[in-house]
Amino acid sequence: MGRKLLLANDKVEGIRYYDVYRREGGYRSVEKALKTLTPDEVTEEVKKSGLRGRGGAGFPAGMKWSFLAKPEGIPRYLVVNADESEPGTFKDRYLMEFIPHLLIEGMIVSSYALGSNNSYIYIRGEYWWIVDILEQAINEAKQNGWLGNNILGTGYNLDIHVQRGAGAYICGEETALLESLEGKRGNPRIKPPFPAVKGLWGCPTVVNNVETISAVVPIINEGGDEYAKIGVGKSTGTKLISACGNINKPGVFEIDMTISVEEFIFSDEYCGGIKNGKRLKACIPGGSSVPILPANLLLKTAKGEQRMMNYESLSDGGFATGTMMGSGGFIVLDEDQCVVKHTYTLARFYRHESCGQCSPCREGTGWMEKLLLRLEKGEGKSSDIDLLWDIQRKIEGNTICPLGDAAAWPVAAAIRHFRDEFEWHVTNAAEAQTRNFGLAHY
Ligand code: NAI
Ligand code: SF4
Repeated sequence: MGRKLLLANDKVEGIRYYDVYRREGGYRSVEKALKTLTPDEVTEEVKKSGLRGRGGAGFPAGMKWSFLAKPEGIPRYLVVNADESEPGTFKDRYLMEFIPHLLIEGMIVSSYALGSNNSYIYIRGEYWWIVDILEQAINEAKQNGWLGNNILGTGYNLDIHVQRGAGAYICGEETALLESLEGKRGNPRIKPPFPAVKGLWGCPTVVNNVETISAVVPIINEGGDEYAKIGVGKSTGTKLISACGNINKPGVFEIDMTISVEEFIFSDEYCGGIKNGKRLKACIPGGSSVPILPANLLLKTAKGEQRMMNYESLSDGGFATGTMMGSGGFIVLDEDQCVVKHTYTLARFYRHESCGQCSPCREGTGWMEKLLLRLEKGEGKSSDIDLLWDIQRKIEGNTICPLGDAAAWPVAAAIRHFRDEFEWHVTNAAEAQTRNFGLAHY
């Protein structure tokens, strides 16, 4: 069994509440950071830990913190991205719902390091019930002297605010999130400038994912060097994976990134194998935006090595034969699943969620959806597959924000690895038409 840093006590009864959380050792990292470390020393620990952003991009958290501009007299902000909307991803929900004080604790330490006196949690609108849970945790923390003015008598002041989104996937993109937090329509901004220089209300801002900020707690408790010893290569520490699809044990698992994909899917400790004794067909290991891989490439890299559950191994081979760790939304498909239908479902989602600012994304996502629907229904032509390929290529890299790429990559990977299935829908049109057409469900 791997190390548990974030989910070490998630099953303890009442851990959601302050008294139990504190009794289990909660808020030790705040005492250590505020009483014995300077803000720069906290940042240094996070750098040493090698922690990479857990929202999907995997950008080194300590490096992002050190990019934060610090002009005299200008406020700085920490904004926690809790707009978890990537299909297949539900690990942040688990953390916030069951161990809300872990996030609050991580935010206090991180805000201290960054010099933020007002920090925000921007949470997706559909997580409405978690807003109450977070606000209760914030109130408990305040009543016990961990928030407010002069925390632990150190002179440091911090308030945490929770802002609920309104259900737009695009507001998880950090600059769209900031626009929304400022009360505007959530349209992504052009980067640079990065939020670290010009973020919330034009002030230097660090935007980090819920899991990233929660991981700061064990990093400070154990030390950055100790944290870096867990895992492998540049995949240090532990990672939460939300597993779903055709598996026996869907749920949220904490892994230490040294296990193989095969072990993760088939071992009883994790997914428990494929449901109903079916065969594994394919998997999207990092949330809907990352490329789908067929079973053979999923379990072994193109070099014939065992594929491991970490950033490097999952992306080994680039997009030709690899994929990405992404947000850790692990979606498993069994032999009965139709990749064309699955890809259509995703294309429909991205078309709906495109903010419409740039033409390749606005128009391209619509065309991809139409073509995929046509093919799925058995009304497509062989040339539609080439057209689909052409459209996704024209979107990738030509848009303001990564939603365009996120829409293009699943289509590209589906055609690359499952072209025969697309062709089947053309050559077996009559059979495709009689099938029970509907959206794929995970
Ligand atoms: P990104 O690669 O553009 O940026 C990563 C982070 O590093 C950002 O915070 C950015 O501001 C910062 N950064 C990069 N270069 C910098 C520099 N030179 N100076 C200062 N800061 C710098 O990726 P982004 O847009 O943050 O995330 C895209 C990923 O998000 C996708 O790969 C996808 O997997 C994931 N995603 C996750 C979702 C979820 O629900 N968790 C939803 C949708 C996408
Ligand atoms: Fe909006 Fe799509 Fe352009 Fe992103 S890529 S800014 S979602 S139109």
